[in-house]
Amino acid sequence: MSPFLLTRTLPEDATEAALRADVLHGLGSTPKTLPPKWFYDAHGSDLFERITELPEYYPTRAEREILLARAGEIAAASGARTLVELGSGSSEKTRHLLDAFPDLHTYVPVDVSGSALTQAGRALGAERPGLDVHALIADFTATLTLPDTPGPRLVAFLGGTVGNLLPAERAAFLASVRALLAPGDTLLLGTDLVKDPSVLVRAYDDAAGVTAAFNKNVLSVVDRELGADFDLDAFEHVALWDAGHEWIEMRLRSRVAQTVKIPALGLVVEFAEGEELRTEISAKFREEGVRAELAEAGFELTHWWTDEEERFALSLSAAR
Ligand code: SAH
Ligand code: AVI
Repeated sequence: MSPFLLTRTLPEDATEAALRADVLHGLGSTPKTLPPKWFYDAHGSDLFERITELPEYYPTRAEREILLARAGEIAAASGARTLVELGSGSSEKTRHLLDAFPDLHTYVPVDVSGSALTQAGRALGAERPGLDVHALIADFTATLTLPDTPGPRLVAFLGGTVGNLLPAERAAFLASVRALLAPGDTLLLGTDLVKDPSVLVRAYDDAAGVTAAFNKNVLSVVDRELGADFDLDAFEHVALWDAGHEWIEMRLRSRVAQTVKIPALGLVVEFAEGEELRTEISAKFREEGVRAELAEAGFELTHWWTDEEERFALSLSAAR
């Protein structure tokens, strides 16, 4: 069995402090918002894995198709000895990438979800003797300190998770990733592409209601962690296409006028009937836009691959 190390970069109470700050700010804003990173407690991470298997949710299958076809090219072009994966979750698709890197020295999965990291890291450590697995519980939007491992480095950010950041957050995030790298290191970025809105909306409002449960899970997290009394049945899952921004927006719509108490914050929050709380954006991209955003952050896009149906893209970029 290869070494498996789990490092928490922030003390546990820092996570609670961040949740408090986000809830205080987001529920005090107009319109109300909550950041999507709070979906992913153990239950939310399990719900996300179920989403990836839904017939309507194509991104995971499309990205896997590209990884299976291109992993060899990615390995050859990056020449990486360390693979850092941001928002790695179950690391399920990453296995296809790892298969193409027989000489990889260290895999560094980074995620806010300790449960997902522990499960994935242990399994990979056992499956791949000879590979160091150094998992980091960390927020990838904060300043990351990576372990001192051999270069070149490849940073992978899969699944289209970059689309869950607002444009200004995305620019800051890409610049911070560039700052982690040396010239010639590479970034493998998964981006979901603009397409027929009805296909997009179905992917975020599935018939079995798994995405609705995932969306409402953020309320359960606030109930459990901050003692709030959100009633999940009093909210309705909403997924809509914002054509101007070219993103899907997930919201929770209050079915009735209601008051929610959040004792840990000494806060009472009023919802009007029909009022919506934004819980996630999921931006959809075009090649020119991705190339320009990467260039702005100090990367040169060198490869652009899509699945057969051109639903999803993986790009490889070099740090300049
Ligand atoms: N990469 C996987 C999982 C995508 S789900 C895939 O493609 O299937 C998004 C993952 O990012 C979750 O595991 C979630 O816990 C993690 N995540 C979301 N926001 C994060 C943040 N700010 N910092 C670190 N991890 C985050
Ligand atoms: C993790 N992220 C890329 C997913 C997405 O598609 O934006 C999260 C998700 N939200 C609803 N379904 C899946």
